[in-house]
Amino acid sequence: MFKKIEKESFYYGSSVALMTTKDPNTNKDNITVISSIWTLGKTIVVGLGLENKGFSNLTIGSEATFNIADSTIWKKIERIARTTGEKTIPEYKTREGYTYCSDKFKLGGFTKILGADVSSVRIKDCPIQIETTITEINIKESFAIVECAIKGIFVDEKILYDDSHIDVSKWFPLIYKFREYSSTNKSLGINFRFQEFKK
Ligand SMILES: Cc1cc2nc3c(=O)[nH]c(=O)nc-3n(C[C@H](O)[C@H](O)[C@H](O)COP(=O)(O)O)c2cc1C
Repeated sequence: MFKKIEKESFYYGSSVALMTTKDPNTNKDNITVISSIWTLGKTIVVGLGLENKGFSNLTIGSEATFNIADSTIWKKIERIARTTGEKTIPEYKTREGYTYCSDKFKLGGFTKILGADVSSVRIKDCPIQIETTITEINIKESFAIVECAIKGIFVDEKILYDDSHIDVSKWFPLIYKFREYSSTNKSLGINFRFQEFKK
């Protein structure tokens, strides 16, 4: 039997990324924790709240870096989860106890690496970092669907098998599953188009 249910948000299980953006007016770097992100070919699509600092930064700065988190850093992420880089905090966030944070790198204990092809910084603690420029923004009611063109992919050598293949037995992405942090450490099998390395 299946029951039809109603839910305001539906986080059935997607990977967590730390989106870094730069405010071109102050030169300050910001981290936005996101899970509404997917990649197809050379395009990344993300869903962002309109009142997020990360969203306002990328509308003027036109660049963003997506640092894909692994399971080891979930506590650092949770440390910055109830903060915003936006000084004017919207009512719904105040009610949920969000506070302004001018430096989420310091609060979470994250290490910055300078961007290679874009001005937004990379996060050393994330094994996969994807630099992008913004190509399209579609505003919905309270969020935006943002399309980004991939300019560069940087992968920690620790999870690489060779110059272009990931050793998948060393990569455990952080998964947000109904607001619980989780990971994927059990292989069930591989797809017929599998192209990486696996012992
Ligand atoms: C695991 C996790 C996933 C999240 N996913 C998203 C998301 O996909 N899009 C979004 O706009 N906010 C998402 N949020 C909420 C933002 O991180 C939150 O609104 C934050 O205050 C935004 O920071 P900023 O205002 O400094 O950009 C997520 C939060 C967590 C903890």
